[in-house]
Amino acid sequence: MTVHFIGAGPGAPDLITVRGRDLIARCPVCLYAGSLVPKALIALCPPGARVVDTASLDLDAIEAEFVAADRAGLDVARLHSGDLSVWSAMGEQIRRLQTHGIAYTVTPGVPAFAAAAAALGRELTLPEVAQSVVLTRTSGRASAMPESERLEAFAATGATLAIHLSIHVLAEVLARLRPFYGPHCPAAVVYRASWPDERVIVGTLTTLPELVAAQPIERTALIVVGPALAAEEFRDSALYDPGYDRRFRRAAEED
Ligand SMILES: C[S@@+](CC[C@H](N)C(=O)[O-])C[C@H]1O[C@@H](n2cnc3c(N)ncnc32)[C@H](O)[C@@H]1O
Repeated sequence: MTVHFIGAGPGAPDLITVRGRDLIARCPVCLYAGSLVPKALIALCPPGARVVDTASLDLDAIEAEFVAADRAGLDVARLHSGDLSVWSAMGEQIRRLQTHGIAYTVTPGVPAFAAAAAALGRELTLPEVAQSVVLTRTSGRASAMPESERLEAFAATGATLAIHLSIHVLAEVLARLRPFYGPHCPAAVVYRASWPDERVIVGTLTTLPELVAAQPIERTALIVVGPALAAEEFRDSALYDPGYDRRFRRAAEED
C-alpha cells in the first residue's frame, strides 16, 4: 500500500501531470484538499472509490484515513493544489506516515506562481533585470514568518516576488515594498489563475490597491512584483546568441 501525494495544479483540470492523472484513476481512495482541487479531477477516481474532502478534517483524522487504507491494502491518491513543495502541509503528513511505516510517493504539480506568470504572459526572470524569483508570503494568523524572511529582506534583492496568502493585506504589502522597488515598479494581482473566473489586474506599486478595490478579491490570489513584469529594454539571453555555442564549445574544449 502506498500514499501518492499529487500536485493537482493551480485549477484548470488539464494542468495536472499525466502521472498524477493516472494515479488518481487507479487509486481506490482519494483524499483531496478542499475547494482548490477541481471537481473534474475528483471525477477521475475509479468507480466505488472512497473520496474524502479533507478541508474539514484535522491531521489526526487524515492520519486515520491513511491507516484505514493501509489496513485494507488500498492505495491512496492524496491531492493538494498547485505543487507539493510549497504550502501544502505535506511535510507533517509524511511525518505521520513514517511513524506507521507507510510508503509514499510525491508527484509534482504546476504551482500557482507559474500559472500566474502564464496568465500575465510574462517571464519572471529577464537578463540583467531579475534572475531570481522569491516565493514567499506574509505572516498569517496561524503562521508567523521567521524574522530573517521579512518581505523587506527579499525586497532588498530586487528579485521578482511572488507573494502568496497575502491578498487581504495587499495595500500594506505594497507600501512595504515601495521604498525598495520605487513607486512605479510594476505589480500585479492574479486571482484564481487558470480557473474559468481567473482575473489579472496589472498596475504599479502605487496604483494597484485602487485597481483591485474596484473589483474586490478576497482569496486565492497571488501578488507578483518586480521590474521583470514590464521590462522591454532587456538584452537577449545568451541561450540563443549566435556566438554562444562557439564560445561554449571552446570553453568546454579548454576544460
Ligand atoms: C496554501 S497556498 C498553496 C500553494 C500551492 N501549493 C502552490 O504550489 O502554488 C495557497 C495560496 O496560493 C496562491 N494560489 C493558489 N492557487 C492559486 C491560483 N490558481 N491563482 C492564484 N493564486 C493561487 C494564493 O496566494 C493562495 O492563497
